[in-house]
Amino acid sequence: MDALLDLADNWLGLRRIEVVVFADDEPAASFYGQYGFEQEASLRRYAFRDGAYRDTRLLTRLRQPAQSAPADEETALEAPPAAPVRESKEGKLAITIRGIEIDDWEDVAALRESGNVIYYTLQIPYLSRDAVRDRLENMPKNQRGLAAVVKDRVVGHLGLHLESGRRAHSAGLGMMVHADYQGRGVGTALMAAAINLAENWLALSRIELTVFTDNAAGVALYRKFGFEIEGTLRDCAFRNGRYVDAYLMSRIRDKV
Ligand SMILES: CC(C)(COP(=O)(O)OP(=O)(O)OC[C@H]1O[C@@H](n2cnc3c(N)ncnc32)[C@H](O)[C@@H]1OP(=O)(O)O)[C@@H](O)C(=O)NCCC(=O)NCCS
Repeated sequence: MDALLDLADNWLGLRRIEVVVFADDEPAASFYGQYGFEQEASLRRYAFRDGAYRDTRLLTRLRQPAQSAPADEETALEAPPAAPVRESKEGKLAITIRGIEIDDWEDVAALRESGNVIYYTLQIPYLSRDAVRDRLENMPKNQRGLAAVVKDRVVGHLGLHLESGRRAHSAGLGMMVHADYQGRGVGTALMAAAINLAENWLALSRIELTVFTDNAAGVALYRKFGFEIEGTLRDCAFRNGRYVDAYLMSRIRDKV
């Protein structure tokens, strides 16, 4: 461990190191504790062990104190985008959900660059349109992609990342809705379809995601569908000139 931390701190400059231990493995937790690892989250039904789904803990070590408090505003590259305006229920759209297709790449490129989407996701600015098309053309076999279509245009995209082996009951989820269509039920339609797919057709019992702690619309949508916060990941990602925290959230279906 001394060598590993020397490598991480002094040669790779890593900010966060994460490890997952079973919730009942006290010796492991105290071993990592000696090296400055702290518990950030309790992960429910995380892995299959000895005939049952078991809980685990996420332990992390930060190289420096958390930096998530707003830094010098002048270092920010741009102002945070305003929260999307919520439409009245009368403004609801006719939304069709279907599988994402390679031919959707131009709509996906447009939606990922719209308004607040890069800000609230782990997308990176200035990604080439070629890269967006390449991602759809070469989607890994463990990915399931859904598209929300309004008037023949893809305005929302959700991806499920299926885990394997002893975590084959789990999937990670990411989603985005075009800024012009946010607050109009597109995210709700995508999430309902994803949960149907995950739980009624793929026999998944854990769906997990991370969401930046300041993403009110995202957190509200996930809570509405029964996701619960399992912990706060400190300095989870770099965004617009500073590190930001994210919630780890999951939805558990224990009937499967
Ligand atoms: C977060 C996001 C996916 C939600 O999708 P959406 O189509 O805007 O959401 P919906 O219109 O279906 O609203 C779903 C729920 O979210 C909540 N919500 C939506 N907009 C909100 C806002 N501006 N503020 C607070 N809550 C909001 C409400 O609870 C709403 O349910 P209700 O209408 O029954 O009350 C979408 O806003 C988005 O893509 N944002 C930018 C990228 C992003 O944050 N992706 C997720 C990263 S984890």
